[in-house]
Amino acid sequence: MSEKEKTLSIIKPDAVERNLSEKIKSIFLQNNLSILESKKLHVSKDEAAEFYKVHQSKPFYDQLCGYLSSGPIEVLVLEGENAVLKNRELMGATDPKNAEEGTIRKLYGISIDKNSVHGSDSKDNASKEISFFFK
Ligand code: CMP
Repeated sequence: MSEKEKTLSIIKPDAVERNLSEKIKSIFLQNNLSILESKKLHVSKDEAAEFYKVHQSKPFYDQLCGYLSSGPIEVLVLEGENAVLKNRELMGATDPKNAEEGTIRKLYGISIDKNSVHGSDSKDNASKEISFFFK
């Protein structure tokens, strides 16, 4: 049985900078994900480090935190049936060059860092990530 759930999406600096937010949001809406909350903000490197804490042992962690804090982002709470998985399908593979045709990262991603969007990878992380941005 499918069920309604929530997930967090981040439109990353590379996409905000290229004015892709409306195009990306329309992909969510066309695919039966509603946007419950949205806000544009600019996180500090410390906030990015806290958000991406699960990746702290990874070799790319410092660069990742530097990147997320490099410019304005837009954070969204998406809701719909199987929202976590659906959002991940719409985003496509982490590295745009491996992403399927029609996915957000294939359409707009530039590189594995500048891959335009982030999405929660599980229901548990979705609720943690939503509370991180929407207290
Ligand atoms: P995101 O879904 O935001 O979650 C972690 C991010 O780390 C990922 O997207 C990528 O943008 C970034 N990243 C940078 N290098 C790598 C890598 N080698 N493997 C996975 N993710 C990476």
